[in-house]
Order: sequence, then structure tokens, then C-alpha cells
Amino acid sequence: MEENNEIAITIKPTMSCNMRCRHCFNADLRKQRDSLPLSTAVRFLELAADFSRDVKVTLHGGEPSLMGAAYYRELFRNEQRIAAEKGVVFANRFTTNALLLKGELLDVLLANDARLKISFDGPFNDDLREKTEIVKKNISEARVRGAKIIILCTLARNASNHLLELYKWFNEWGLDIKLLPIEPRGFALFNNNLLLQEDEFANALKTAYNYWLHDTKCQISCTTFEDFAMIRSTQQYKPFWFRREIALNPDGHIHPFGRPNDIRYDLGRPEDINSLEDCFQSDVYKNLMNFLKGKRAVYCEACPACGSCNGVCLFMGYMYTDSEALLQRSCRISRKIFDIALESNDIAYNDWLSGKQKSLNPRAIQALLYDR
Ligand SMILES: C[S@@+](CC[C@H](N)C(=O)[O-])C[C@H]1O[C@@H](n2cnc3c(N)ncnc32)[C@H](O)[C@@H]1O
Repeated sequence: MEENNEIAITIKPTMSCNMRCRHCFNADLRKQRDSLPLSTAVRFLELAADFSRDVKVTLHGGEPSLMGAAYYRELFRNEQRIAAEKGVVFANRFTTNALLLKGELLDVLLANDARLKISFDGPFNDDLREKTEIVKKNISEARVRGAKIIILCTLARNASNHLLELYKWFNEWGLDIKLLPIEPRGFALFNNNLLLQEDEFANALKTAYNYWLHDTKCQISCTTFEDFAMIRSTQQYKPFWFRREIALNPDGHIHPFGRPNDIRYDLGRPEDINSLEDCFQSDVYKNLMNFLKGKRAVYCEACPACGSCNGVCLFMGYMYTDSEALLQRSCRISRKIFDIALESNDIAYNDWLSGKQKSLNPRAIQALLYDR
């Protein structure tokens, strides 16, 4: 079988959740009681290890911490066994609201070097989420214990209009961030005042991004801005337009990652297939690819930003909506972001060329010089 460099898989052990976020795109699923049998998750890990020597595993949901420490202790014990048997490397990420991120669960995650992706919006956390003080305390304690943390910061309207303040707040606390602009899906659709306004957002983004480019005191990784600094007009923002992104859902079936397509395209059960390649070669998967190809033909071919984007929407891909209005909105906002990034990157790059390196953020320089 052909050797694949890497596979990134997602495991969603439950769709239940212990937080009532005002914007959640999965909120209608949080009463689902299915939980993924450990044996099915282990079989999925085995298939992934047969597929590639480098397996990235994201534990997601719902709220994955609800499964408790014992579930993950066993999961990681099996990972270690498979890694030794098959000579593969697993890298784990755990996406959580951090409400239960303490005690034995934290011990297990740290012992297995899991990277913690924590959903938390800093000074604007109360706009969308609950129990901010508990979450802050758990983040602080995990940091003291040496956890590798990246904060997933969702930008609702208020936060997006104060993007610079938000960046400075996280920089001061020394926490790496990734920014997730709020998408008008799920519960967010019922909260109009949470939805960011395109022009307001573009203005705030321009200010914050330009500040970051020149922030010589930047001490955190802001992956969103680092990605922006790699945008070029003639080179795709990301080298692929769609990765083989698959998830094992609590119902025990493999699906593409992300609604609504995870509902429409069932790629089988780990127990019933011999290889993950079976998923990718299945008629169901080919139908998904054709569906996405059709969307690209409509949205990408005539788009002025296609050279930079090529359908890897910055904001929300074809995978995550079936509404044409949302896709159009997503493309519009993405084009604005590309314009801001391209213009700002040119100015900053010229500063670098003319010897003004000291006025630039060293993390920005690295990304600005990428592939020039
Ligand atoms: C759905 S949660 C699931 C994992 C886990 N319970 C957590 O809170 O991180 C994953 C991320 O999706 C984000 N999210 C949920 N609804 C969203 C929306 N409408 N737009 C943008 N991001 C959203 C959340 O803020 C969270 O950071």
C-alpha cells in the first residue's frame, strides 16, 4: 500500500456538553446520549496507524472531558501499544472548554503530552460562554504544570471590534491563540447581536494585524496572523484545497469532519473496513469530492482571490455550510481579509527589504519571508 506521510483524525467520544454557549453550531446535538465505545476508538487508531506513520489525533465533541480520565487513560495506553507494535508516532490534541480540566483528567493528558486546545475568549468570554473564573483558574493551573496550550478564541461582534485589545490581553498573559470568527450557524443564528459585521470586522482586523506585524514585544504565537503573513497573491493560502479530514463520531461511524457533510456522508464503521483507504475510495467519499468540486466551480473559478485561496476559505469552507447565502458571505469576508493581508504584507516586506527589520515582529518576519 502507498505510504501516506500523515493522517489527521478526529475522535468525538460524545456530543454532550456541560456548557451552554450562546453561539454553538452544535447546540442541537448536545442532548445526544451516544458515547463512543472505547473499542471502536481503538480500532480507528489501529486503522490510522496502518495508514500512516505520523498520526495526529484530535479529541473533540461535544465536550470530550465528559468521558472522564479512565476513558483517556485506556485510549492512550492503547495508543502506546499500537505505536510500539507498528512503529508509528501519535500526537494528541484535546479540544475543551476547560471546565473539567483538572485532577486526574489533567494528569492523564499531561502524562500523554496532549496539546490542550482551550476554547476561551479572554476579556470577552462572558459574551458567549459561562463560568469564566473557573475556566481561567483551570487554565492557570494547567500552565503551571507545563501544559502546552493554545487558546481557541471565538470572535463575536464585540470581541471582533476590539481585536487589538484582545490580542494585547493574550500577549500579556503569554497564551498562544487562534482566532475563530463566529459563524452564523446553529445557536449563533438566533443571536443577531453576536454576529460580526463585515466592514467593522475588516477595519478592526486591519488595525490589529498591522499592530501585530510591528509588535516587537510579541511573546505569543497567534497562528491566525502567522497564516495571514504567509498569504501571497499568486500562491495558495494553503497548499491543499481539501484535506482528507475525517472524524469518528459518537455513533461509531466515520464521517467527514464538520457539519452538515458529516451527516450526509457516512464513510463506514471502523469494525467493517480493512483500511482508511476504503473510506477514501468509497462511492460515498467520491460523491462528497464531486459535491465540493461543484462548489469550487461556482465559487472559485471566477473569484479574484482564487490565487491565494483556491477554496480553502479562511472563514468557513464548503464543508461547513449548505447555505448559499452563508457561502457568499464567507467568500466576501475572506476576500476582504486577503486584501488586508496582501496590502499589509507588501508594506511590511518592503520595510524588511529596506533594512527596517528592528521595527518588525520577529514572528511576523519568519512568516513574511516564507517561500519568497
Ligand atoms: C463546538 S466546540 C467543541 C469542543 C469543546 N466542547 C470546546 O468547547 O472546545 C469547538 C469550538 O467551536 C467553536 N464554535 C462553536 N460554535 C461556533 C460558531 N457558531 N462559530 C464559530 N465557532 C464556533 C467553539 O467556540 C469552540 O471553540
